[in-house]
Amino acid sequence: MNREAFLRIDNLKKGYGEGEAHVEVLQGISTAINRGEVCVLLGPSGSGKSTFLNLVGGLEPADSGTIWVGGTELTKLSDRNLVEYRRRELGFVFQFYNLVGDLTVQENIEVCEYLSENPLPIGELLRSLGLWEHRRKFPHQISGGQQQRCAIGRALVKNPSLLLCDEPTGALDYNTSKEILALMEQVNQEYGCTIVIVTHNDAIRHMAHRILRLRNGQFVEDSINTDVRPASSLEW
Ligand SMILES: Nc1ncnc2c1ncn2[C@@H]1O[C@H](COP(=O)(O)OP(=O)(O)OP(=O)(O)O)[C@@H](O)[C@H]1O
Ligand SMILES: [Mg+2]
Repeated sequence: MNREAFLRIDNLKKGYGEGEAHVEVLQGISTAINRGEVCVLLGPSGSGKSTFLNLVGGLEPADSGTIWVGGTELTKLSDRNLVEYRRRELGFVFQFYNLVGDLTVQENIEVCEYLSENPLPIGELLRSLGLWEHRRKFPHQISGGQQQRCAIGRALVKNPSLLLCDEPTGALDYNTSKEILALMEQVNQEYGCTIVIVTHNDAIRHMAHRILRLRNGQFVEDSINTDVRPASSLEW
């Protein structure tokens, strides 16, 4: 694997609220995630996992510290350039799939295609997502797992260099969760995108190259997994 640091975080701080109500959620965290890595971010509820993803995704400003993605220092970009960055570099996958209800599976993916100068071929993508047979159906006509596949397709079609996933299996049953994780593994291997997966599920760490754990505003773990296992072998 290419060992170039792709996502570099240095002394990142973020808090919410004024005066006595102020909570310092991220208290100066640092890490470096290599290009092409699958990284799992663990931590208890309220520890700041989504906050971290939102900062890296350029959805919220940091209070201080720096975020580098590739050659770009995010924390210095203007609003306009942030929009550009999100368009060009980033895919976002959430727990609840965020599909457009009156568009078909294929159309849901196609509306994200125009955002990129370099989109993936849609037929190939639909096949690798296991959605080819379902491409003309609407979201209410497919299962939760298929809806999440479609949401992943929306994030992937623009061929992002960074895929940020917030509890992507949080609403799915055991078998479907494993399928979605296997799909992420496949996407990482096929397209080489760097992936950050936020989860409560400790077992998922086994499929990651890097494990980050947040607690009380700090990374209490930042380790390389030397025994990466296939998603299909995970058990919990
Ligand atoms: N916009 C906001 N305004 C005020 N407080 C916020 C805001 N967003 C998050 N917080 C607070 O910041 C803390 C971290 O929230 P965050 O959503 O990042 O946690 P999380 O680790 O993703 O939790 P979960 O596992 O439950 O999703 C929480 O205490 C939350 O209440
Ligand atoms: Mg969260």
